[in-house]
Amino acid sequence: MILVTGAAGKSGTAVIRALAAQGVPARGLVRRPEQEAPLLAAGAVETEVGDMRHPGSLAQACRGVDAVYHICPNMSPDEQEIGARLIAAAQEQRLSHIVYHSVLHPQVEAMPHHWAKMRVEEMLFTAGLPVTILQPAAYMQNIAGVWGQILDEGIYRVPYPVETRISLVDLEDVAQAAARVLTDPDLRGGTYELCGPQPLSQADVAAILSKTLGRRVRAEAIDPLEWRQGAEAAGIGGYQLDGLLKMFDYYRQVGFTGSGWLLAQLLGRPATTFEQFIQRLIPT
Ligand SMILES: NC(=O)c1ccc[n+]([C@@H]2O[C@H](COP(=O)([O-])OP(=O)(O)OC[C@H]3O[C@@H](n4cnc5c(N)ncnc54)[C@H](OP(=O)(O)O)[C@@H]3O)[C@@H](O)[C@H]2O)c1
Repeated sequence: MILVTGAAGKSGTAVIRALAAQGVPARGLVRRPEQEAPLLAAGAVETEVGDMRHPGSLAQACRGVDAVYHICPNMSPDEQEIGARLIAAAQEQRLSHIVYHSVLHPQVEAMPHHWAKMRVEEMLFTAGLPVTILQPAAYMQNIAGVWGQILDEGIYRVPYPVETRISLVDLEDVAQAAARVLTDPDLRGGTYELCGPQPLSQADVAAILSKTLGRRVRAEAIDPLEWRQGAEAAGIGGYQLDGLLKMFDYYRQVGFTGSGWLLAQLLGRPATTFEQFIQRLIPT
């Protein structure tokens, strides 16, 4: 049995589905009871309700499992404390393997949520247990947040220049790679960057949207200050708001790209292109 934390989220549900497709039993840790039924429907064999910030929740969730796939809540100010607690629980239960869902380029101090993941990676190296680390780039699925606007207005708005290149990766590919490293002992102990096959600019993304949707979509950079007002109005604040603005600024200066070679090796097939991903979204 494999414990998946953050299981009701985008990443967690995708990993649960990928494990179920391979017949690997998984227990999902969710925060709220109403998240249990959908997760069981997605293929989890068991669910456990708990808050990763509360002492005892992770210890309880680790009881009776062989390995853990740890997904910390997105943009969490508690990433390091939760990581330390997870490691302690895994040590206590003598788990055979910890796999950590990190992020591409955790070494970047300018992005605090990346830097926190690097500190967790560092703790894992000294935990005395077999550890594997996955470092996914930004998901293609993030486009869901602006999908309505793309369809309604034909505009793809981003809070950084339209020339910014990002190696967007399909979360379904990431989840299949996760299932592979959880089940193939030869891959244990590695750190794997998971990038999509193309370092696309945002103008490229809009061009692919235009081609695939059969209507013109143009990319437009919005001022981060304008983005900030919208985010604050939507209730985003504190650590999350600060982290997102720093991430956009880093993207503006550097982009967020890497090599897609390794993901294709793990999948044993070419990784999904952005065009294939959009085609999958369009109802047939
Ligand atoms: N999005 C990307 O492009 C991307 C790329 C690379 C890596 N990542 C990493 O992937 C991870 C997951 O991201 P995601 O987009 O899948 O997140 P998500 O969809 O927001 O899911 C997070 C899940 O964690 C749960 N949760 C929140 N606080 C919790 C707590 N205290 N105790 C237990 N559960 C809690 C949430 O439950 P509620 O529904 O109750 O809030 C939700 O089900 C993050 O660490 C992120 O940095 C993301």
